[in-house]
Amino acid sequence: MIGLLELLSRPFLRALDPEDAHNLAIKALQVVPQGPRAADQPQLAVRAFGLNFPNPIGIAAGFDKNAAVPDALLRIGFGFVEVGTVTPRTQAGNPRPRIFRLGHDEGVINRLGFNSEGGAVVLARLAARAREHPDSGAIIGVNVGANRDAVDRIEDYVRLIETFALVASYFTVNISSPNTPGLRDLQQAKSLDDLLSRVVDARERAHRRAGPVPILLKIAPDLSLSELDDIVGVARKHRVDGMIVGNTTISRPQSLHDRARAAEAGGLSGRPLFRLSTRMLAETYVRAEGAFPLVGAGGIDSGATAIAKIKAGATLVQLYTGLIYRGLGVVAQIKSDLVAALNRGHRDSLASMVGSDAAAITAESWPA
Ligand SMILES: Cc1cc2nc3c(=O)[nH]c(=O)nc-3n(C[C@H](O)[C@H](O)[C@H](O)COP(=O)(O)O)c2cc1C
Repeated sequence: MIGLLELLSRPFLRALDPEDAHNLAIKALQVVPQGPRAADQPQLAVRAFGLNFPNPIGIAAGFDKNAAVPDALLRIGFGFVEVGTVTPRTQAGNPRPRIFRLGHDEGVINRLGFNSEGGAVVLARLAARAREHPDSGAIIGVNVGANRDAVDRIEDYVRLIETFALVASYFTVNISSPNTPGLRDLQQAKSLDDLLSRVVDARERAHRRAGPVPILLKIAPDLSLSELDDIVGVARKHRVDGMIVGNTTISRPQSLHDRARAAEAGGLSGRPLFRLSTRMLAETYVRAEGAFPLVGAGGIDSGATAIAKIKAGATLVQLYTGLIYRGLGVVAQIKSDLVAALNRGHRDSLASMVGSDAAAITAESWPA
């Protein structure tokens, strides 16, 4: 079924405007036949944040912003889905065009600016699916953000956590989108301390209704190492359950071929982000000292890049741009490469690989 979808869709989608192609892909996924999800090899199972993941490959935030197709994504083989970023109120985002493909580089620049159907619509969808599949065990995280014109941005995160606690397997507090002016200032130690204390309080208030919903913090790959010291320190102080490293970059690596597109404003993702985001992941891993697990994202498009993220410190990984260039089949390919690597090393789980290269990576020269 995936093969057929691929055959029909990939060259055709790549000929369209990137945002039209995305909208069409969501429509196609809405008509993927319902059916049980194929079981994963037991070696791929991961336990993190108190949740049991059938495999460590997740679809990163931004693909299914409005929770239109989480079950189709799980049926395609993802081990978990992160919907969002959701903002409390409906918001249109920046004017189009606002997604650009850098074809030679296998990268994307986006400046969507949190286009969101808003909390009420997304909540209704997730609540309906929870009623339909009450014991599915599916892991659906909700990535939350603030409206651009919010008077109290932190209050937006708090409100979303209270509202979504019953339907979210975990929350991602997204303070790293480059496309909402000032949002990334929440990564500064003082603001982050305030944010996390209010967010953790909100989670505790929801605890009796919803149980202990894990909270992950998603950071930018563009932080300085002293900013990262502060962030990991504050995250540990507030006992967040994990961190996602990371979001898109506002930097433009010298290696980019498509210089004209590279001049577009926005966050760069995909292959050109791989080295920087993997370095930041390793830097975060050595600072976290095992206090919480990490999710690695940025430029994963193969088994080799997924394994490199795991060795740099990721317990779980996420991808988005790799799907655009490699198609849906990349998920099955990565899983079979992971199983092959485990078999070669006579390992029965990925856990012993996590972070094995982190110290060595932090000693390399900084990615240009
Ligand atoms: C078109 C697009 C939209 C995105 N929207 C979001 C978003 O709403 N929230 C978020 O946290 N990250 C968003 N991201 C970032 C991804 O979740 C991911 O962190 C980043 O793209 C790196 O992974 P990749 O190289 O596999 O794409 C978006 C990425 C792209 C390409």
